[in-house]
Amino acid sequence: MEIRPTTDQDLDVFVDTLHAAFGLFPDTPAEDGGGVWWAAFEMDRNLLAVTADGRPVGTAGAYSFELTLPGEIPTPVSGVTAVGVLPSHRRQGVLSAMMRHQLAQLRARGEFLSVLLASEALIYRRFGYGPATYTRRLKIPRHQGTLAVPRARGTADAPQTGSDTGTVELLRRADCGEIMEEVYDRYRRAQPGALSRPHRWWALRAGQPPISPAPRHVAVHRDVDGVPDGYASYSVGESRTLTVDETIATDDAAHTALARFVLGHDLVNEVVFKHVAPDHPLRWQLADFRAAQVNDDTDWLWVRLLDVPRALTARGWFMDGELVLDVDDPFLGEHGRYLLTVRDGKADCVPTDREPDLSLGVSDLGSVYLGGTAPSTLVRAGHIRAHRPGAAALADALFRAERSPHCLHWF
Ligand SMILES: CC(C)(COP(=O)(O)OP(=O)(O)OC[C@H]1O[C@@H](n2cnc3c(N)ncnc32)[C@H](O)[C@@H]1OP(=O)(O)O)[C@@H](O)C(=O)NCCC(=O)NCCS
Repeated sequence: MEIRPTTDQDLDVFVDTLHAAFGLFPDTPAEDGGGVWWAAFEMDRNLLAVTADGRPVGTAGAYSFELTLPGEIPTPVSGVTAVGVLPSHRRQGVLSAMMRHQLAQLRARGEFLSVLLASEALIYRRFGYGPATYTRRLKIPRHQGTLAVPRARGTADAPQTGSDTGTVELLRRADCGEIMEEVYDRYRRAQPGALSRPHRWWALRAGQPPISPAPRHVAVHRDVDGVPDGYASYSVGESRTLTVDETIATDDAAHTALARFVLGHDLVNEVVFKHVAPDHPLRWQLADFRAAQVNDDTDWLWVRLLDVPRALTARGWFMDGELVLDVDDPFLGEHGRYLLTVRDGKADCVPTDREPDLSLGVSDLGSVYLGGTAPSTLVRAGHIRAHRPGAAALADALFRAERSPHCLHWF
């Protein structure tokens, strides 16, 4: 079996093989090649596994994204995608061979982080990925959806969210692509764990709603100066459920105004917010705290470190401290011990032979890297070993981000 890079000429065979791996048949793209979820494939970054007699049996791809690290630091990452092996060729090591090939390829590009969404949670830990961001669905019966936003004392850090001075305008999806693209880009730069959505995705209508051509209403929020600072993309389906694909806002006041808008929609029984960050204040803004049912509380982005010192020095930090991390990477057969020293928001990370504070696998480091998983939880789960009292608590405090990392981009 051979793993080979693809070109634009391989698009059809790549798409067919991938869909067969998932048991699906591909939709027909529009004339410009857009309007289907795979329209933004970067065919110079994808891989095909091919048998000795030339039959394609496996696929793996990568998108070029930016991931916002704690401290509002967008950094280039690979978004691994389109992973599939034909049912006839499973459990023979095809995926393992593609993963090995791909990780080497990403390192050769100079990348130090890779991310993916996992179809099943048992697949990727062995390749060094760990779940790093989480998301949940909130379902709120409309008649219980009154927002009682207290008149909080606004400060420079936490501005008043109660009194909105902006406006909400309802637009059709087809008429507000540029506004959404611009608002999304501002939002993702300030949200740890968020991924960029390259222009190509919007232009080719690739992915899921609201970028796909699925019919949607879009409520756009503008600030007091008329500048768009948020949108909610939604549809009303059977049983009068209003489903919000995503509420994107560059500040909490805009988010509150959009939530109030959809929760006030006539002829609707319930409102479902599809992607809500674990620490999002929406639940706390409801007059009735129990009105929101939490469903599909699940992992979203999985993170893999390809270069531990570069990754740890790239993110922002919010507390001074020092930790020795003993990191094992069984898939790549690598092992390193690092002294992590954080001062004034920046980290230094160098090899050391000092006694370790924590021993952990590279997938566990991926889980704690963005601040969405407490190291002490993984110590208690038996994944991470703490070598001295207080080491886990210090790691919790050090790795924490300014807020929960959250990603809602599907790829
Ligand atoms: C997931 C998938 C790509 C695995 O491909 P594969 O070629 O069978 O994987 P490998 O043979 O390299 O398996 C490597 C190891 O992972 C394990 N593994 C692979 N897929 C697994 C799964 N879905 N659940 C549990 N374990 C799995 C294998 O048992 C094997 O373990 P071992 O090393 O202890 O023997 C393939 O089953 C598939 O195409 N599934 C449907 C599409 C899909 O879910 N793709 C992933 C999208 S994110």
